[in-house]
Amino acid sequence: MSSVIVVGTQWGDEGKGKIVDLYAEDADAVVRFQGGNNAGHTIVVKGKQTILHLIPSGILHDHKLCVLGNGMVIDPKVLIEEIQYLKGENAFPPHTKLVISDKAHLIMPYHRRIDAAREAAKGTGKIGTTQRGIGPAYEDKVSRTGIRVCDLLDREVFAEKLRRNVEEKNFLLTKLFGEPAVDEKPILEEYAGYADLLRPHAADVSLLLDEAIRQKKKILFEGAQGGHLDVDHGTYPFVTSSNTVAGNACCGAGVGPTQIHSVIGIVKAYTTRVGSGPFVTELTDETGEHIQRVGAEFGATTGRKRRCGWLDMVLVRQSARVSGITGLAITKLDVLTGIDKLKICVGYRTARGEEFTKAVPSDLRVFERCEPVYMELDGWTEDIRSAKRMEDLPRNTRRYVDTLETLAGVKVVLVSVGADRNETIVTENPFRR
Ligand code: GDP
Ligand code: IMO
Ligand code: MG
Repeated sequence: MSSVIVVGTQWGDEGKGKIVDLYAEDADAVVRFQGGNNAGHTIVVKGKQTILHLIPSGILHDHKLCVLGNGMVIDPKVLIEEIQYLKGENAFPPHTKLVISDKAHLIMPYHRRIDAAREAAKGTGKIGTTQRGIGPAYEDKVSRTGIRVCDLLDREVFAEKLRRNVEEKNFLLTKLFGEPAVDEKPILEEYAGYADLLRPHAADVSLLLDEAIRQKKKILFEGAQGGHLDVDHGTYPFVTSSNTVAGNACCGAGVGPTQIHSVIGIVKAYTTRVGSGPFVTELTDETGEHIQRVGAEFGATTGRKRRCGWLDMVLVRQSARVSGITGLAITKLDVLTGIDKLKICVGYRTARGEEFTKAVPSDLRVFERCEPVYMELDGWTEDIRSAKRMEDLPRNTRRYVDTLETLAGVKVVLVSVGADRNETIVTENPFRR
């Protein structure tokens, strides 16, 4: 009996997809609980890369239940394309079942349009969203005007909800943003086609997971984005529109908090960020470019270059606290190979004498004033990609991992030394304790 949550501890793209795929071998169900196709989760198996946006990263294993929880916002067009892509690649195993919560909210064409229009209107103050309509879809959910999967399955209900929404959204698009209106009729037809395709997958996810838990099945919850993109706990307003922290696995899948046994936080060995917003340890010099190049730091969803910087332990400590992290998985350690001196940020300081070591300041204007306080460690030059045990790592690499563990106050349970599934050192598997 075991339920494990995997979350990102930074600004996303920590390597959650790789670790979820790895842990999925021991799980019966893999569940996404928030976000949508703003996520891009990469899995590499024997050199073959698969990028997933909506479907849980357990999909490459057979005999699993892959679940899209009620807390997600689902673009049906993208989901259907992703199913077709996986089937085309022979990557949708015959006995693995895909289930979509009938309570999940739908991303509609007008959400994508409003996302883009709102960003354009913000000009230089833009968030740098993925423009997938995520924010506007969550806005509708909270304002109680959203359209859910169960609405899509009833043509009359769908048509009525669509009519009301189109009326309101066209007012926004034309009057506020000076954009062309959307046309209701083609949306109605397009989505009727999606309804037929998605109907066999729709279910009450909470009931399904309850049944699985009663049968002592193992559940793996897959977070998207990262702790500092959380709408409450992140660097607001430069965040996404959902709660990305572990607590939301319960709300976003309909499972009680007493069912959760461990929370694994993924920490990239350095920091990256896509989109706008303050980034205390950002490197705009040659070292930053080197990390970006060696780490192939390009967005898996939008292809944008990711901003790179040193490891920031204030971010990791806050995530560990807010998500109740029980074990850390360090990824992309191999990318740091060959850098002479490595820096780790242990706190922030401002010119006014303010100090922050455990939490990111809530006020973004204060965060913008923060300067990093670094400690420095010697790097290593040895190729670490074939390491299978901690003992195989060079002394300085182990010192980097040990320092991270001490500074976080949470034990390291996995170290990833390459993108491939097998380029991993597992010291403790949360499902095999
Ligand atoms: P996610 O959104 O957290 O799932 O992460 P992404 O898939 O967006 O980005 C992580 C990138 O790093 C992907 O291209 C992975 O294949 C790659 N990756 C994951 N772990 C490692 C690692 O340990 N070393 C290297 N070099 N690449 C890794
Ligand atoms: P995964 O799951 C990195 C960022 C966007 C933008 C902000 C808001 O692959 O780690 P949104 O489209 O969500 O309204 O954009 O959040 N963002 C991500 N950055 N990884 C992600 O997902 C992200 N999903 C959203 O770049 O700054
Ligand atoms: Mg990603």
